[in-house]
Amino acid sequence: MAYYRSVGDVPRTRHTQHRDPEGRLRHEELMGEEGFSSDSSLLYHRGVPSAIVASEVWALPDQARVPNHPLAPRHLRLHDLTTGPDAVTDRRLVLGNADVRISYVRTGADPSAYHRDAVGDECVFVESGSGVVETVFGLLPYRAGDYVVLPRATTHRWVPAEPSRLYCIEASGHVAPPKRYLSRYGQLLEHAPYCERDLHGPTEPLLVEGTDVEVLVKHRTSAGVVGTRLVHDTHPFDVVGWDGCLYPYTFNIEDYMPITGKVHQPPPVHQVFEGPRFVICNFLPRKVDYHPLAVPVPYYHSNVDSDEVMFYVAGDYEARKGSGIGIGSISLHPGGHAHGPQPAAIEASLGAERFEESAVMVDTFAPLELGEGGTACEDPAYAWSWAGRRL
Ligand SMILES: [Fe+2]
Repeated sequence: MAYYRSVGDVPRTRHTQHRDPEGRLRHEELMGEEGFSSDSSLLYHRGVPSAIVASEVWALPDQARVPNHPLAPRHLRLHDLTTGPDAVTDRRLVLGNADVRISYVRTGADPSAYHRDAVGDECVFVESGSGVVETVFGLLPYRAGDYVVLPRATTHRWVPAEPSRLYCIEASGHVAPPKRYLSRYGQLLEHAPYCERDLHGPTEPLLVEGTDVEVLVKHRTSAGVVGTRLVHDTHPFDVVGWDGCLYPYTFNIEDYMPITGKVHQPPPVHQVFEGPRFVICNFLPRKVDYHPLAVPVPYYHSNVDSDEVMFYVAGDYEARKGSGIGIGSISLHPGGHAHGPQPAAIEASLGAERFEESAVMVDTFAPLELGEGGTACEDPAYAWSWAGRRL
């Protein structure tokens, strides 16, 4: 996220004395990626960011995963999944591997727990609902269609204005625009399907008074992802100003400009972000292929190095007609199985000029395993939907 931003009260010169009107020193914190060798920001705290008064185990929601074995394409109906109301603690794990975990929650209207994910960046797609995410960098309003990108270790909480359906993509590293969209110095290039003005970061500091504030921290151990409840001496939202290139932001799918072609374009033209060993793409309403003999739905494809997860958000997904998939569904198409349209969908698509679909795709380079939430909402008939029968 190499776009400089400055919010609130920062000193003229970095690493110099910065005092409040009463003469008390602010506490400068550098929050930086890859040691001191990548994007970072400098934050100026009223309190001491290191001051904690308690540390105890936070038992994460069930993180157990089972392999996709025997191998099968899967259809999961997320809208059949019931969840508790907390945007952080009530997420149910749907799919995951060591690189990325996908979980789902339908929030209530109350604020979540305070949280920071020290495992990696979170990219949360807002399927429906609105509200704000309070962060140590300031407020981030969110609405349906937003990706909310929260860098690793950003302290935050979700404050829904209304119940919100959140599709949470939790990385084990950093999520960013694809490198091929960027200039050598990090500007989004002309061929990219979005630009800097479409990315919305905090605009003013968020200052909250308080003591003994609990923050739930997700972090790494050699045994996998675990949780710890840290109690901060003073409220972590005490940053009077910050500047730099590392901060949370939102991007809405309506600002994504789909790239179309004379014949069918492959998924990389729909890419929006990349993470370590996975990519995020979105398929959005667009004009489709204009060759007179074009076949607008995809050809069958065998992604030999990937597992592909499609989350169907809105509209009418032409290639999946006849499969049972609808809004709120996930399909998992794993490596080792060629997938494509239901046969009747190919003929039905001929001559189409527009697709009205909205779907978010995650392609992983390592196999995905099923979380308890995924198993709980599976449609067992999907694997046989192309053949129309089962032995
Ligand atoms: Fe596919």
